[in-house]
Amino acid sequence: MKIVAVSGSLRSESFNTRLSRLMSELAPPAVELRPLTLHGIPLYDGDLEEREGIPEAVRNLRGEIKATDGLILVTPEYNAGIPGVLKNALDWLTRPGEEMKPTFGGRKTALAGATPGAWGTALAQSGALITLRQLGVHLYPGYLRVSKAGESLKADDADDKLSEQVRQWLGGFVDFIKESE
Ligand code: FNR
Repeated sequence: MKIVAVSGSLRSESFNTRLSRLMSELAPPAVELRPLTLHGIPLYDGDLEEREGIPEAVRNLRGEIKATDGLILVTPEYNAGIPGVLKNALDWLTRPGEEMKPTFGGRKTALAGATPGAWGTALAQSGALITLRQLGVHLYPGYLRVSKAGESLKADDADDKLSEQVRQWLGGFVDFIKESE
């Protein structure tokens, strides 16, 4: 089984990118989980699309998503929503319009996120539901909301409690993928 975990942060020390790497380390043996970032994707601009078509970074990401059994969006929370970087990538991935369905339609998708604050990106994840409904994904109902990430997701290590939480959550997502096949 293949899963990709896309981090919505470009920051080199990002907690969310760290979380996506931790998922990769803790994935069950039969699962290949690839952590990805959104570097190289330009701001969506209809003129750019008309002039040059879909950027290579978007085409590559689309290829990764289409080849997976499951997609995880690992989102930071900015001002109670998902970062523009992530929304921008989702917007590009729905272009041209006929690509939306093969990229996202019925795609088994999970939301996760990490924040140094107390609420574990709850508001960003709730806000993302509007867009995910529009994209037509098949959403895993389990939450992975990592709070106090400065303590639980340190640069060199994740604490045991978080590792167990991630392992269990991933196991649930894998079961969800299998059950909905
Ligand atoms: C934040 N941050 C933040 N955190 C939160 O829990 N709720 C919020 O609404 C916001 N808003 C917000 C806005 C902007 C513009 C920034 C830059 C940051 C803090 C945020 O969670 C923190 O910077 C994380 O470390 C960002 O994720 P990465 O880059 O570590 O993955």
